Amino acid sequence: MGDYRDAYHRSLTDPDGFWLAAAEAIDWATPPVSALDAGKAPFYRWFSGAELNTCHNALDRHVGSDRIALIYDSPITGSKATFTYRELRDEVALFAGALASLGVGKGDRVIVYMPMVPRAVVAMLACARLGAVHSVVFGGFAPKELASRVQDAKPKVIVAASCGIEPTRVVAYKPIIDEALSMTEHQPDHVVITQRPQEVAEMGARDIDWDTLVASAEPHDCVNVSATDPLYILYTSGTTGRPKGVVRDNGGHAVALAWSLKAIYDIGPGDVFWTASDVGWVVGHSYIVYAPLLVGATTLLYEGKPVGTPDAGAFWRVISEHGVKALFTAPTAFRAIKRVDPDAELLGKYDLANFQTLFLAGERLDPETYHWATEKLGVPVIDHWWQTETGWPICANLRGLEPMPIKPGSPTVPVPGYHVQILDQQGNQLPAGQEGAIAIKLPLPPGTLPTLWGDDERYVSSYLSTYDGYYLTGDGGFIDEDGYVYVMGRTDDVINVAGHRLSTGAMEAVLAAHPAVAECAVIGVHDSLKGQLPRGFVVLKAGVEVPEEVLREELVAAVRRDIGPVAAFRDVSIVAGLPKTRSGKILRKTMRGIADGRDEPVPSTIEDPAVLDALRPILRH
Ligand code: COA
Ligand code: AMP
Repeated sequence: MGDYRDAYHRSLTDPDGFWLAAAEAIDWATPPVSALDAGKAPFYRWFSGAELNTCHNALDRHVGSDRIALIYDSPITGSKATFTYRELRDEVALFAGALASLGVGKGDRVIVYMPMVPRAVVAMLACARLGAVHSVVFGGFAPKELASRVQDAKPKVIVAASCGIEPTRVVAYKPIIDEALSMTEHQPDHVVITQRPQEVAEMGARDIDWDTLVASAEPHDCVNVSATDPLYILYTSGTTGRPKGVVRDNGGHAVALAWSLKAIYDIGPGDVFWTASDVGWVVGHSYIVYAPLLVGATTLLYEGKPVGTPDAGAFWRVISEHGVKALFTAPTAFRAIKRVDPDAELLGKYDLANFQTLFLAGERLDPETYHWATEKLGVPVIDHWWQTETGWPICANLRGLEPMPIKPGSPTVPVPGYHVQILDQQGNQLPAGQEGAIAIKLPLPPGTLPTLWGDDERYVSSYLSTYDGYYLTGDGGFIDEDGYVYVMGRTDDVINVAGHRLSTGAMEAVLAAHPAVAECAVIGVHDSLKGQLPRGFVVLKAGVEVPEEVLREELVAAVRRDIGPVAAFRDVSIVAGLPKTRSGKILRKTMRGIADGRDEPVPSTIEDPAVLDALRPILRH
């Protein structure tokens, strides 16, 4: 592990030298003279004093090459398109001019509520061009979730499409936006809508048609911003119902992403890189939009599913048709393909000669899926671990720096810049093989969250207060004798459903709001397709008489209405009581263990073991 060991060591002992060298890959208006700024620790900043524009780095500087920047492949609508760097830059510059004509400027927020269409990328990069701050909201969220983001980010403008397209239905976005805005105090000045033929939105007084707006716009130049200025806010599920606004800066982000694409993914200029995710998630921000464009590669925007659009050969078709070098997706996508085509017979129809690596992240990579993908594809299958907060991988097998032997079940080693340690409850470092909390010694590397939007206090209390001098990842795990990290799962109320991060706390808040419910718990249980699925347990208020079936339907509908279809909440049981500790804390971890079929010990702190005994058969159903 020579190259890796050297790079890792240098990144921790000489962060300035390491990251200033990496910063040479970026075009600066004012180049950085130092990398790490510990002046306001624990609020570390990177490249303070330097200036750049992220959109210039992602587009303008590659225009001379005539390479393809973006391939759009949409089996769900039957359309395809390609954009050279010049074409994409021209569209972005024009839309930036259009946004500027609505008064959007440096530091203003813009919410982007769009499906996987090229204009979503155009809207994001147009914000970056102006120094405005985008906040993309995933289409599978309910109006209330959109509303909480609008209220927190206070956008000047919302940019949206008229609809998203799911295999079973067209999702009309405009009514969702109108409903969300009926709940918020903050109101944007305008909603810009790109009309799609599948569902044309009815326009109201503040709504503006994208094409009409752009028709009278002038292209806008890149506006230089400070390296430490925010590029975007991305809301993610925390342990409560209130999402956390993860902030990403401009300078550290550009440096870290450009470095990661080469060192981890082994992707460079001209390579075709496909991330099958959604622009609404961090994976989409980093590896559909920013990283590939920052290095001059070709990114692929896929509007479809792994199965059913039209079949389980869709991924192989896209890889072969566009000469994809590496694919990055969530394990659940491969489980979906395997379920429909267990022998991967459809693979035989396609030539995957250019395909070199499969990267998987977003949830635990189960060994069965790992072995299936490895055997069927005949390429390295790389598990890597990270989160919305970090924006790029914490642990990985660095394919462009020094490929390492794969150990199934491990995302390999800490990436340079991340000082990963396993801590016990008192904050002592645990020896190899022992499981504890995975923490990262501060400072975090460039590109990771400097804070939460408008809430420094919550940033500290959520991530920095458990262990002094460390960032708490929220995941538990261990490191083996060879330095390989094993991620065993969240230690909080965050769950991962089909690679989508959700909060059981938020679902509990919805259930608790039902007038018949006295108390409730939601836990994530193992699911062979989606990795985890939420299961709810409710105790009724005394004297409530509702048919159980009716109540269950109402509760399922409430979670869909308030959080969204993406929560995939379908399973709720009405129970006599919930097991608790003597201090009144619901024993969710014990419930989860039993539901997953483990032989869970009864905690010594339990208040009434009979309650747990009564629940056991329901948990195991
Ligand atoms: N807009 C609106 N609704 C959406 C949506 C979107 N962008 N994405 C998902 N939904 C809806 C789905 O239509 C579904 O609704 P339904 O209850 O009416 O059927 C619900 O949310 C649950 O969606 P999902 O969890 O995706 O389940 P699925 O059964 O439709 O598909 C997979 C399962 C595995 C095929 C799918 O999850 C997938 O492709 N996953 C890839 C992993 C991924 O992209 N992860 C992102 C992070 S890397
Ligand atoms: P998100 O913020 O949506 O990217 O979700 C981050 C969380 O997903 C992490 O904290 C982990 O719990 C989980 N996760 C992501 N990648 C992996 C992985 N490779 N192995 C295990 N868990 C993962």
